Amino acid sequence: MQQYPKDWPGPGPIDLTIHDLPHASSMTEWWYFHSHITTVDKRSLAVFGSFFRIIKGKDKITQEPLYAHSLTWAISDLDRKTYVAQSLVDKDAVAMGKKKLERGEGSRDPRLRRAMAEVLDKGNIPHPDRMFRQEPFVNLKRLELDFDGNLFYKKDDGSYQVELFHKEENIGCSLNLIPQKPPTRHGDNGVVKGTKGEDMFYYFIPRCDVQGSMILDGLNIPVTESSGWYDHEFGGHRAKAEQEAAQKGEDAAAQEHDIAWNWLAAQLDDGSELTAYTLVDEETQEVLENRIVLIDADNNRSTFTQIEFTPLNEWTSTRTFNTYPTNWKLTVPESDIELDLQGSIDDQEFVTLISKPAFWEGRCEVSGNINGKKVTGRGYIERSGFLTIDDLDSFFKAVSRKVRESVRALIPLEPTYEQVLSLIADKSTEHYMDGVSIEQFRDTMIKPVREITDRGGKAWRSYAALACCDVVGGDSRQYVQWLAMPELMHVGSLIVDDVQDRSVIRRGGKTCHEIYGDSIAINAGTACYFMGQKLLRVDNISDHALLRIYDLYFAALRAGHAGQAIDIDGLDAYMPQAIETGDSQELEERVLAIHRLKTAVPAGTLSRMGSIAGGGTEEQVQAVGRFFESIGLAFQIIDDVLNLRGFKGNLKSRGEDIAQGKITLPVAKAISRLSLIERQWLWEKVSSKPQDQETIEEVIAKLEECNAINDCDDMAKTLVEEAWEKLDPLVEDSMPKLMLRSFGWYVLERHY
Ligand code: IPE
Ligand code: MG
Ligand code: MG
Repeated sequence: MQQYPKDWPGPGPIDLTIHDLPHASSMTEWWYFHSHITTVDKRSLAVFGSFFRIIKGKDKITQEPLYAHSLTWAISDLDRKTYVAQSLVDKDAVAMGKKKLERGEGSRDPRLRRAMAEVLDKGNIPHPDRMFRQEPFVNLKRLELDFDGNLFYKKDDGSYQVELFHKEENIGCSLNLIPQKPPTRHGDNGVVKGTKGEDMFYYFIPRCDVQGSMILDGLNIPVTESSGWYDHEFGGHRAKAEQEAAQKGEDAAAQEHDIAWNWLAAQLDDGSELTAYTLVDEETQEVLENRIVLIDADNNRSTFTQIEFTPLNEWTSTRTFNTYPTNWKLTVPESDIELDLQGSIDDQEFVTLISKPAFWEGRCEVSGNINGKKVTGRGYIERSGFLTIDDLDSFFKAVSRKVRESVRALIPLEPTYEQVLSLIADKSTEHYMDGVSIEQFRDTMIKPVREITDRGGKAWRSYAALACCDVVGGDSRQYVQWLAMPELMHVGSLIVDDVQDRSVIRRGGKTCHEIYGDSIAINAGTACYFMGQKLLRVDNISDHALLRIYDLYFAALRAGHAGQAIDIDGLDAYMPQAIETGDSQELEERVLAIHRLKTAVPAGTLSRMGSIAGGGTEEQVQAVGRFFESIGLAFQIIDDVLNLRGFKGNLKSRGEDIAQGKITLPVAKAISRLSLIERQWLWEKVSSKPQDQETIEEVIAKLEECNAINDCDDMAKTLVEEAWEKLDPLVEDSMPKLMLRSFGWYVLERHY
């Protein structure tokens, strides 16, 4: 028999006149609603909101509890397929965020943690989370919440009023939820586990009539035939754990495991409702609790503790690169229940860093069978925890997967006529396709390219454009198709470069021309530039922005080819004079020019394209561009360094550049640091393209000894740091900004 804390409702019906009252033992409390909306102009929307309050300590003088607050809410527009979310937190979130980092919570990645600490130290929290401008107001005598003008309150007639407004997006709602069914207990007669495994009391009102209006693009649009759901959870009894921890002088919060969950609440068209959850310990993966509660049309409650949420698909967010199921099967083995839950929009990911990591919460369509009867309805799903990304390595792996997927979609191995048409011409020039063999096009244009793209590469170029769109306040979700563009641009240059360099290995396999021959490889490689260009055109982009983006696209190609020309020709001709004078400045500049033109400019250009698409100011576009140029340049300098110091896992053999007689930046720098005899010795060794490891090691030792390698390392760091200092004040602290900051360090600290 469940032991209830003394101020909790015992078994029996819930009297809301009592239970919307404050609860003395309540550490954590939240009020939640969602609503399925039809507007008078027949638009379909859904909205959810969650007002939170948790105890964070006691006032030292009055001994009164002190609370932290947060509000998360989002509107799903089912016709336009958009999801607008807002997350608001206390000013205290900065201090709490710091504590969290100190406890070792938050991201596992040291660079992301450092970037987060940097933002918190400024007293900021990263966007999309925002701080309340006013102190949240909570009156539990009659349930009145005012979180920065966002209201949740109970009216005298027993209905609930919600007022939400997102100023920047000009979107919100003013809704009245009028209960149509009595409150029902969730869990074990009302008791469920909370987000840290603590005991909570949980009841819900599964069906409310909803009246009021939505605010869309600043317009008030009345709603019709809408329904809603209300959840109220409170408790958080972990007094015992806290006491024990305090005795040991430890922080109780640090010892609790986070809990991940899948949760559903659905209203079926036959007048019944159901709600279910699965709670999982994130650390041990142990399933802690399973529950489904069904309420039939006559308000009879039945419940089962064996349920299974089975994911049927995977959707990857292009903002956080986390993967979530958006289509589920829900089964209850003890009963004849099998439901298909289909997210009405895939992208209902709620991005927030401070209150918890990103989660998925959104509207779904429900269909299936309950006890032999076909049912349909609509619901809300929340998936919290189970995140697939916890460091930059897994992040970029996920980006790389997504890039490959985008490339596959553009140039499929079994293309349809329509797909080939769009790659060669368009509807108005369809006669270009006359006599074109789909198979021949596939074998000579698609397959050679896919040969290389399918092996996967470093996807940071692809991420740059999207991140830079977001970092200036844009929304990269519109530009997802851009993911494949930098990859195609890059792979095109690799395929051609491999012919020019007579290379036999690329991305761990045979080079394109080794398989398809030089002619096909050169042509397909070049064609990549034009395939990528196809992706630039995105709906709703202004002609002006598009024109600038086109210009930048060609600028990247122009610079890249200039760099390639210099690289092919080489810098050997500059060596005799540098050796004679011991002045390496010109030589260093020439090496850097190759790096800049081949790598830095394309990266900078992609980031400029992103920030123009995101509506950045000219100043922002330039600073973002310069930052990525610095990253690109640093990336190549570090590449030269790693080549001499060894790649992790011996990806390439140490000193390969020496064996190839390359004049890299460390070699150039050494010229001004060595005596004439040493300079001559160095060039004699390098230009002989030594194949024995002993000579290579001797050369590397010489480069280390004169600090040429260290200086390169320092130069890369300074480049990135200086560009960051210029960019930092120009863009708001945000999640994509944290990513850019960490990414700079990631490039500098990489070992692969
Ligand atoms: C290839 O350049 C990359 C391009 C931008 C064309 P390199 O010839 O210097 O590099 P790898 O060793 O073939 O990748
Ligand atoms: Mg090459
Ligand atoms: Mg080359």
